Amino acid sequence: MDMSESSTKQVNDAQISAPTSHAALSAWVAEVAQMTQPAEVYWVDGSQEENDRLTAELVQTGTLRKLNDETFPNSFAAFSDPADVARVEERTFICSEDEKDSGFTNNWMDPVEMKGILTERFTGSMRGRTMYVIPFVMGPLDAEEPQYGVELTDSAYVVASMRIMARIGTDVLRKMEAEDAFFVPALHSVGAPLEPGQDDVAWPCNSEKWIVHFPEERSIWSYGSGYGGNALLGKKCYALRIASVIARDEGWLAEHMLILRLTSPEGQSYNIAGAFPSACGKTNLALLDPTIEGWKAETLGDDINWMRIGKDGELRGVNPEYGLFGVAPGTGWSTNPNAMRAITKGNSIFTNVALTDEGGVWWEGMTDDVPAHLTDWQGNDWTPESGRPAAHPNSRFCTPIDQIDMLSEEYYSPDGVEIHAILFGGRRKTTVPLVTESRSWANGVFMGSTLSSETTAAASGAVGVVRRDPMAMLPFIGYNAGDYLNHWDRISGLLSEERRPKIFLVNWFRRTQDGGFAWPGFGDNSRVLKWVVERIEGKADATETAVGFVPTADSIDLTGLEDYTAADVEVAVNVDHDEWKAEIDGIEKWYANFGDALPASLRTELDGLKQRLGA
Ligand code: GTP
Ligand code: MN
Ligand code: MN
Repeated sequence: MDMSESSTKQVNDAQISAPTSHAALSAWVAEVAQMTQPAEVYWVDGSQEENDRLTAELVQTGTLRKLNDETFPNSFAAFSDPADVARVEERTFICSEDEKDSGFTNNWMDPVEMKGILTERFTGSMRGRTMYVIPFVMGPLDAEEPQYGVELTDSAYVVASMRIMARIGTDVLRKMEAEDAFFVPALHSVGAPLEPGQDDVAWPCNSEKWIVHFPEERSIWSYGSGYGGNALLGKKCYALRIASVIARDEGWLAEHMLILRLTSPEGQSYNIAGAFPSACGKTNLALLDPTIEGWKAETLGDDINWMRIGKDGELRGVNPEYGLFGVAPGTGWSTNPNAMRAITKGNSIFTNVALTDEGGVWWEGMTDDVPAHLTDWQGNDWTPESGRPAAHPNSRFCTPIDQIDMLSEEYYSPDGVEIHAILFGGRRKTTVPLVTESRSWANGVFMGSTLSSETTAAASGAVGVVRRDPMAMLPFIGYNAGDYLNHWDRISGLLSEERRPKIFLVNWFRRTQDGGFAWPGFGDNSRVLKWVVERIEGKADATETAVGFVPTADSIDLTGLEDYTAADVEVAVNVDHDEWKAEIDGIEKWYANFGDALPASLRTELDGLKQRLGA
């Protein structure tokens, strides 16, 4: 595309006039085009030809780098502005009409005031660029009530990434028109208009960023960033923040969870959901390669789980996404071969990884052998002696989900799968045992509400600080966190008592006294899941502790593990009362934030724990 020519073009009414019979959509597109003043409006059809054309243009403009077709077919690498590498939580807002509907976990601003600020930013923000209209649906298009959205963006990189992460294009648009359906309007601009004759940069963005949600309108405005969850608006903005509000109103749950299907040697299948904070192991567990004989694992979802109540009072989970947007570092042939097989089939976009001299990609942990020379994510020469990571710690792969060999057929089921167990997990060096079964649903909700983790590179800010992250949803709850915990309480009442999933707390990241991991993790997590399943079946032994039920040392199957014994299990599942008394202080402080909004059942659970600890 000749940028100098397109930047002199002005969008005209004929171009705005939309190829759709959906009146609300064409009106919104016209309104946004008037405000943002793009050179062109383009309706995305989602086809392969279109994708080939857009990616070729992105290669030409320098945003994408085409990878070696033999090792990474039809795949590309992108390198972001060094100031645009993660979700920006301090710039993320929930603009409910009433401030108390946003709550202490969110940034809030009056919606009218916010619209004023954003309108100023968006006015002319797409000058010299194309505005792409991306019709999309989260979850299957043949769901009973398909959850539509339309993203307007001035980034072709976003179009190519959205095509991997969500079902997009003409099929979606036609069904939306036929149903005259509601859609979530999701507006995105990188905030970098091009003046006539101005050269573009490889990664346009703005130093000022706004990631804004209007929960009553169910709308999203995102400005200034081109990265991940800030820009691919179907994901965190819609499927978690806006969907959690819809779920509150309609009586279901939109959660930051993986879904894994596990089948025992006896042929019994169980669907396990797991909520772990960002960069704490969801994608890895979702692609689990079991190290124990006879157990089969299948992927249903790796990041988001929409759970509705089934007609028999069971909890049913659906993965609303269409692709993986996974943390690259630490994903490797030895730790996660299933992910590596999916990624190397091609059709992927990598962001902020390192490039090999052969035109492939590399990141820390991908292979045991470290290449002798790389180009790092910032374009500099890199050798193992460089003393810095070659890939950004929050670098990502974006890969179609159907490239996972172990993808469950049930992934396509419009009403999802029954969830039999829920895991809450965080990254904690101390205190939290490898696995703990809750005493009851209420006790499990307590575990979720007090979930904590050491911070990672997935969000900007300090790394390694313990923060509370209720249900791994802290940055994603679209409303008041106290109301959110009450909603979990309410869901319990909608579930049949016999079908209510068992809740467990897990921690793959505990350390021993010598600093090493207390548990091998990754594929060996299948051993913990085996115990979870056997608890559901009433087969495995457990010890009752103050915090819940932990495995007896010999109830974890260690067959085939070298250098790991029942004595090591004892260490991994140990409940240290002194550590837990310190934890109580942290929980009290955390709960104080909620004030009156804290559900009484959680206060009761905390009192019970204190009593059992003698605290
Ligand atoms: P988001 O996609 O940001 O929501 O994160 P995620 O929860 O999917 O995290 P992911 O699975 O990508 O894991 C991130 C990091 O955790 C990687 O560096 C992994 O190597 C590490 N990790 C995952 N599972 C394990 C495990 O069982 N043990 C240990 N020690 N590390 C793990
Ligand atoms: Mn996530
Ligand atoms: Mn992930």
